[in-house]
Amino acid sequence: MNVLGIETSCDETAAAVLQDGIVKSNIISSQLVHQKYGGVVPELASRAHQRLIVPVVEEALHIAGIKKEQLESVAVTYGPGLVGALLVGLNFAKALAYGLKIPFIGVNHMEAHLYSNFIDEPKPNFPLLCLIVSGGHTQLVLVRQFFHHQLLGETLDDAAGEAFDKVAKMLGLGFPGGPIIDKLAKQGNPDFVKFPRSFLDEDSFDFSFSGIKTSVLYWLRGHKILPADSQQITINHELLTNLCASFQAAVVDVLIEKIMRALRKFEVKDVAVAGGVSANSELRRRTQELAQRQGFKLHIPKFEYCTDNGAMIAMVGWLKLKGGIRSDFGLNAVANLSL
Ligand SMILES: Nc1ncnc2c1ncn2[C@@H]1O[C@H](COP(=O)(O)OP(=O)(O)OP(=O)(O)O)[C@@H](O)[C@H]1O
Ligand SMILES: [Mg+2]
Repeated sequence: MNVLGIETSCDETAAAVLQDGIVKSNIISSQLVHQKYGGVVPELASRAHQRLIVPVVEEALHIAGIKKEQLESVAVTYGPGLVGALLVGLNFAKALAYGLKIPFIGVNHMEAHLYSNFIDEPKPNFPLLCLIVSGGHTQLVLVRQFFHHQLLGETLDDAAGEAFDKVAKMLGLGFPGGPIIDKLAKQGNPDFVKFPRSFLDEDSFDFSFSGIKTSVLYWLRGHKILPADSQQITINHELLTNLCASFQAAVVDVLIEKIMRALRKFEVKDVAVAGGVSANSELRRRTQELAQRQGFKLHIPKFEYCTDNGAMIAMVGWLKLKGGIRSDFGLNAVANLSL
């Protein structure tokens, strides 16, 4: 069974072919046009998807060694995301599936992040606790069986990835900021500044990251590194690495604490992390350490399946298809689709 997965919810134009659940190709074109703006510009994203969708899909088919006529289904993200960006992939996928007379499956992007952990072996067992940490979401989810998700908690303000990106911007670093902070933090002292950790109420599984971000801003202002009337930061490399390490430690501490709370309340032997921030080396190290201490099986996707990609969309498509689920061609894009 050849399933094509298409992803255009934000600033990655991506397509992948899965053959009986095995990845045969996974093509990702990251739009560089947004870098100079320090964030994704929705209209530019839609236009870039329009330019890239055909070559990216053609490349995915070529690498998989198949022709489009050999496809048996097309899966595509229909939300959440930027509506104009979603529409490009969704309409392309519908047209392709309609023309080929094969099933078309709309995929929830957050479900796809979650099920990116099912791409490689060993596959997680249920019940599964999954922390989804991405650019727009931070969610703690209990999965009792395929597509039965209980949302335990989510962010009340900024997503973890968003906090990384905003702090990176403050520090005069590029976009996206997560990988840059991760790299710099390796050389820094995580105890240099004790930024606040928002653990919220004792029994809360929710998250809040806007406070940490504001604390970094006030610290920079207080130390005259970032003047109140300017975006121009003056900072030496050592201080920069120390601030990156201290900020990252604060974010990771909160994420780890929420996993520990859920482990105390729910009987689970498998824990997964997914989404762009799951590429973070400190989060990976700390969750691995926790897994050893607490004796659970940890699942984190390969780096190429952490940030947006077509393979995770195709994986959900394949799982749904096996379960007899397909979508109606009337399906529309849903910008704020929930899990
Ligand atoms: N090594 C890293 N450390 C920390 N953050 C990272 C790392 N690599 C990527 N990120 C962050 O991951 C985010 C991108 O992840 P992803 O592609 O899953 O998000 P998105 O698709 O934009 O948002 P969503 O999935 O919520 O719609 C960015 O915020 C980026 O900074
Ligand atoms: Mg994403």
